[in-house]
Amino acid sequence: MANEGQRTYFADPKRIERWPTREPFTSHAIAPLLAIANLHAGQRVLDVGCGGGICTVAAAEVVGSTGRVVGADLSPVMIGLAESRPYPPSVTYLEADVQEDAIPGGPFDRIISQFGTMFFDNPVAAFRNLGAHLAPGGTLTAAVWQGMDGNLSFMAHRLAARGFKRAMPPTGGVPQGPFAHSDREWVASLLLEAGFAPPTWQSFSLVHRCALDDVVTEAMLLDAGIDAERIDEAIGIARTELEPFRGADGQIACPLEVQVYATPLAP
Ligand SMILES: C[S@@+](CC[C@H](N)C(=O)[O-])C[C@H]1O[C@@H](n2cnc3c(N)ncnc32)[C@H](O)[C@@H]1O
Repeated sequence: MANEGQRTYFADPKRIERWPTREPFTSHAIAPLLAIANLHAGQRVLDVGCGGGICTVAAAEVVGSTGRVVGADLSPVMIGLAESRPYPPSVTYLEADVQEDAIPGGPFDRIISQFGTMFFDNPVAAFRNLGAHLAPGGTLTAAVWQGMDGNLSFMAHRLAARGFKRAMPPTGGVPQGPFAHSDREWVASLLLEAGFAPPTWQSFSLVHRCALDDVVTEAMLLDAGIDAERIDEAIGIARTELEPFRGADGQIACPLEVQVYATPLAP
């Protein structure tokens, strides 16, 4: 079965238990994503990799009661989280692998995704399947992370890149993970091969104000697979990196470097 590694990763109860503490970081992308997607009342929208559904519900507020929004995610645990929260009747959640499954409720005027498109075993197949679900004149708009450099909230990834051991899920042989789509040229080549037009891009430097413990704790790093024998060293490095971002109120102004692309199908 495709995307087995990611299905396991995103259904890990430990990760999902902590997911609501990550959403305040990721949700900063909702406003620019929805603005660029240019949603209107009455549209049909697909939210790819909807996770706990915060962006799905935000999209539903824009398209109103005459619109419809499908939130699709391959993790049953994420879908369970989304369904456990309030959502309007215009929203449907669906457990599906958007790489290969048919997605009922289309064709969609807009396909949106907040950090849900960087985990496919076969990104070209996934984008092709998404394209097949677009209505004429429809667009795909996705928020993805820029590089690791400006994104301090991904401490375990940053430490792993510095040689601290971290267990990663098996991949389909292509780059996968939060920074997999930081390279605009590579993403554009995938989209073109899948039948989309060249995407337009916009960058956003956002900030999430929070306690240092919201960004990094020993337990978070251990859960993420950072070497337990070097955990003191790892936590020391993480705290040193974050300290310059601490304001007078003691809060960390954690930078979030996001980019959003939008593209219709190729003519
Ligand atoms: C980083 S989370 C983002 C969740 C949500 N959009 C947010 O911003 O809070 C990525 C989500 O994509 C989902 N995902 C990964 N691969 C997928 C696939 N092939 N089909 C559907 N969902 C997928 C994961 O299960 C996960 O919930």
